[in-house]
Amino acid sequence: MEFREVVKQRRSLRSFAPVEVGEALIKDLAAVAGLAPSCSNKQPWRFVFVRSPGMLERMVATLAPGNAAWAKQACMIVAVWSQADLDCWTPDGRDYYQFDTGMASALLMLAATERNLTAHPIAGFDPQSARRVLALPEGAQVITLIIVGGYTREISPALADWQIKGEKERPARMPFEAFATIV
Ligand SMILES: Cc1cc2nc3c(=O)[nH]c(=O)nc-3n(C[C@H](O)[C@H](O)[C@H](O)COP(=O)(O)O)c2cc1C
Repeated sequence: MEFREVVKQRRSLRSFAPVEVGEALIKDLAAVAGLAPSCSNKQPWRFVFVRSPGMLERMVATLAPGNAAWAKQACMIVAVWSQADLDCWTPDGRDYYQFDTGMASALLMLAATERNLTAHPIAGFDPQSARRVLALPEGAQVITLIIVGGYTREISPALADWQIKGEKERPARMPFEAFATIV
């Protein structure tokens, strides 16, 4: 797929086809994510690829109910985490670790899209519970969970009307003038 086509295909869908995610695919996604730029090349992103049924169930239990309803059909949940002491040094103490981790996550989601997977990031989960389930260190910040499943055109019966609308059309984007200027 052409780059622009992959970008257009990426959607935060909530309907998933069952699919097996093998270790080679996981390593491929991680390799693409790992090519992201980062401040002083610190590479502060960390990913836990959760795919065993028992661990998936425990992760789904950390989600807000509105997310759990559809995310329980996922074949994998990627927990994206980082922590402040993985950041680069700046003279005025600016933070970049979350920015860098976001860039790596975007690449990971695009790579998943190219492999005919849906990769849907969420904030609606309890980060402390997720950290405990994954036995991450005390300072770890679970920034997002990326809910992954096979792409399908079939709409999940678990979805509410507004979510069905979201499956059919991409939520509107701001016009150029609302987020960009040329000087
Ligand atoms: C940081 C972040 C948090 C999000 N949290 C949720 C969430 O809790 N539940 C959900 O269904 N979608 C969530 N989304 C998905 C957004 O709603 C979605 O990206 C947005 O509506 C644009 O749609 P698109 O990704 O299909 O282009 C989140 C996305 C991001 C980047």
